[in-house]
Amino acid sequence: MFSLAAFAIFVGVAATYEFPGPAPPDRNVGAQIVANIGPNGLRTSAQPYADIIVPGAVVAAPYLEDVYNYTWTRDAALTLQYLVELYERDLNQQLKNIIEEYRYLQPILMNLDTPAFHRPSPMVFETGETLGEAKYNVDGTPYLGDWCRPQGDGPASRANALMRYAQWALDNNEREYIRHYHWPIIRNDLNFIVSWWNESMCDLWEETQGYSFYTRMVQYKALLFGLNIAKDLGVSDDNPSVVKWVQIAPNMRCSFESFWQPEYNHIIANREAPNDRTQMAMDTVLASVHVFDPAQGCDPGVFTPCSDKALRNFKRVEDEFRYYAEYKINEGIPEDKPVHLGRYAEDDYKGGNPWYLLMFGAAEFLFDAAIVWDQLGKIEVTEISLPFFQQHVGNITVGMYSAEDEEFDFIVEKVRNYGYQYLMLGNSMIPAHSDGINEQYSRDTGKPCSVRHLTWSYTAYGTARDRAFGILDRPWFASGPAQDSADQIKPQDQCDLGSLASDFNWDNPEFGYPPLVAKEKKPSSPPLEKEDTQDDDRLKARSMVTTSKVENDSSDYNATGGEVPEASTADVEDTATEENGSGEATTSCTTISPSEPTPSEPKVEDAGTAFLGPSVVVLTCAIGLAAAFLT
Ligand code: NOJ
Ligand code: NOJ
Repeated sequence: MFSLAAFAIFVGVAATYEFPGPAPPDRNVGAQIVANIGPNGLRTSAQPYADIIVPGAVVAAPYLEDVYNYTWTRDAALTLQYLVELYERDLNQQLKNIIEEYRYLQPILMNLDTPAFHRPSPMVFETGETLGEAKYNVDGTPYLGDWCRPQGDGPASRANALMRYAQWALDNNEREYIRHYHWPIIRNDLNFIVSWWNESMCDLWEETQGYSFYTRMVQYKALLFGLNIAKDLGVSDDNPSVVKWVQIAPNMRCSFESFWQPEYNHIIANREAPNDRTQMAMDTVLASVHVFDPAQGCDPGVFTPCSDKALRNFKRVEDEFRYYAEYKINEGIPEDKPVHLGRYAEDDYKGGNPWYLLMFGAAEFLFDAAIVWDQLGKIEVTEISLPFFQQHVGNITVGMYSAEDEEFDFIVEKVRNYGYQYLMLGNSMIPAHSDGINEQYSRDTGKPCSVRHLTWSYTAYGTARDRAFGILDRPWFASGPAQDSADQIKPQDQCDLGSLASDFNWDNPEFGYPPLVAKEKKPSSPPLEKEDTQDDDRLKARSMVTTSKVENDSSDYNATGGEVPEASTADVEDTATEENGSGEATTSCTTISPSEPTPSEPKVEDAGTAFLGPSVVVLTCAIGLAAAFLT
């Protein structure tokens, strides 16, 4: 009845999956994302926003008076990576412009003088310091306030996003362009990684220093991906940057084992973190999702989603929320059903709540695992992963289940359906008449709270929903230098975990900062001049209301309509914010949105063909694939 053919696009494997309920709704995520990007987004083009935002700035959640009114390297990169995926599917020019504006902005941000490394530590070095900065003002100036610094995952994710575009561009005669404009940015981010990967830094949740598993996973992907892209660009093997990456990648891989906690069977989210958390946290699950490539198989050495350690960790972290986190909304949920997931059980940020993007991330993790089992035609249940499987298939035992065994399909379906249930449970927490996805929803009442329209929430929904339909992103690992490097597994005792920053001569142009090559190729609307963006003006702007109806420029990724106010306060928690002076939230989870006067938010509605649901995309791709086979 709900039968929808799903194909694993890009990997050539056709699998069909029947959703056990309605297909996950479209939610217009492409348009929702674009609405949050400057300067032409539906939300960001409203005055007075439009006067200050630089092109290519992806706002975390765009309301001027918010603590999320910044462009975070991490959120922007994860989002851009998804936009490239979407771009590759429909070649929409508006998306291409955004990708180009984003690329243009990066060297500008990279060259800012920021506080990231301005602290008394051996980490102060002459150049490259700004890369550990988490976020920037939307006018392209540095954020100078207090923050958890430096952060190590942003540069890696940015490189991953740019390399994802490079993959497409290299197939489409843009090699010189990529070499000239993208490569210096990518190279710089990768050199930041090899310099500082084994230093204690702030984690992705911006809360604790330590050695973050998530950070290391995205960094590892970036290095290996970089080796493949370097080869495709014709960069020679003895290029000094490439030599470093080749040297560090196997050491990095060898260090992953140190994140496994064998006694309690979980991944340690942050090693040597100066706090008393259990270090069981959802970012360890996100890590496997954000670096996913089916070609890596079920490899516990790098915690791929279908590997025994990643699966056991998934259950362990899930159990934190099922049994320990004291979420009222999780009470009474049967053990074989999904629960509401937050960052980690001890979280008290805005009271500590479930996050939409983590619900969608959990779903994606399970879809990814199922996709690889289907491809491999086998599932290995080990002592380590057994409890995960038992939760779904009660009487299962340790062993190898191959596609010929009758249990095989049953197990894969169970896990995939569990992913579907996560996706739909997260979905069900979005109020019916609202098209907006917040960051969190209350652990007590289930009502949306924290910031509205969090860009990352849309991105996470988009990727998870696509995987539900079997649509994969392009592989980044595949074969080539990345695979060769991954094959060089070293025994633990031969890991070289030293920081190699001192080996770097940042004056060497092959290592150093990218010059502002961006200046040579301006995207349509240039960044604002400095004098337009004085702090006073920005402060004034902050006190004004931010959103209003904006003209639809008729492009597909822009919304139509525009005057329907959404999610009334009846559906969300009380709109008063509870930020203290330092911008940090206090205890309870409230919705942050413009308060004075009540805004009429622009509404992102169904915008036609650019938002073809994946079923249509699947069909199109399937026709494409068929055509490819026939020719
Ligand atoms: C803001 C950070 O972005 C968030 O991750 C953190 O939880 C809060 N500050 C509280 O420290
Ligand atoms: C807080 C989250 O902890 C962090 O990961 C994110 O980058 C920022 N909010 C912005 O969305």
